[in-house]
Amino acid sequence: MKYESVNEVKKQLEEDIKNVSNISELNDLKVKYLGKKGLITELNQKIKDIPNEEKKEFGMCVNEVRNSFNEFYEEKKNKYETEILNKKLESEAIDISLPSTKVKRGSKHPVNRMIERIEDLFVSMGYDVVEGPELETDEYCFERLNLPKGHPARDMQDSFYITDEYLLRTQTSAVQARTLIANQDEPKPIRIIVPGKTYRKEDDATHSHQFCQCEGLVVDRLENHVSLADLKGTLEVFVKEVIGDNLDLRFRPSYFPFTEPSYEVDVTCFKCGGKGCSLCKDTGWIEILGAGIVHPNVLRMNGYDPEKWGGFAFGPGLERLTMFRYGIPDMRYLYTNDIRFLEEFDRKDDSDGIK
Ligand code: PHE
Repeated sequence: MKYESVNEVKKQLEEDIKNVSNISELNDLKVKYLGKKGLITELNQKIKDIPNEEKKEFGMCVNEVRNSFNEFYEEKKNKYETEILNKKLESEAIDISLPSTKVKRGSKHPVNRMIERIEDLFVSMGYDVVEGPELETDEYCFERLNLPKGHPARDMQDSFYITDEYLLRTQTSAVQARTLIANQDEPKPIRIIVPGKTYRKEDDATHSHQFCQCEGLVVDRLENHVSLADLKGTLEVFVKEVIGDNLDLRFRPSYFPFTEPSYEVDVTCFKCGGKGCSLCKDTGWIEILGAGIVHPNVLRMNGYDPEKWGGFAFGPGLERLTMFRYGIPDMRYLYTNDIRFLEEFDRKDDSDGIK
């Protein structure tokens, strides 16, 4: 090449190239040749001192050196970057064939399984699932259910009072009144179930201070004739679906201030099959729920005219139903939170083919 200065740079570049072995040396080289004071940059600056007629040729020579640098630079840069990436991938590789650490999973509580089962059934029959507060007022828990202050039937439900007006609800029936009141401006047919916790001041082998109920309430216009026959039919479907087919039901007249007539419903004892045993106190029957035709006072007090509206209500205790369904002989098992006990139900529910 004609220009000594360009030749020198070219030679130097050829030498330097041989010594580049990694990305940082490559970048140093870029600075050395193309940086502000780089050798190629300096050649470019020399153009202005070259006689006009030679400028073009000189420029082309410089370009040639620059192009060979760029070519080298790009090629090496790709190479080094790929190497770096591969190294990183290698070091961060995950062996997906390794067995994972087992996460210990909990088990659904049998009472919750029961609630889900009941919800599925009633939703399929057009009911809504409704909730209410566990800290309830005396008004909704009792007064609006035809149990004024001082009513003797209050003694059936020993209550945890928080203040004179507030208590832990003793029955999900409180939500009957809440639902009626919520619709009082424009009464409309009601079909609800209310699963939830309830509290009473009792604690022995067959009672716990906290338990679960599932209220049911159906109210419709009188011309639609929601009758005791509907209540019976509904409860028969209910009991057979959630406990089992091979059971008899018995409707026994009873008393609740918010239903008239009222019933207690018994089913064949699951332990002795009706022969009589210690669980059923030799009667062959176990009581599972209270029910009846909604009392006109309840309708009236909560904004539904009993001359136009009527219906039925029921309220099973869920622990009893759960014990029946799974053959659990002692209610306390349900509240000791033994994971081995809870796990049993995964298998039981799988084996009967339902949920
Ligand atoms: N709430 C009643 C109880 O706890 C049961 C019941 C519900 C009775 C609905 C009649 C109608 O004993």
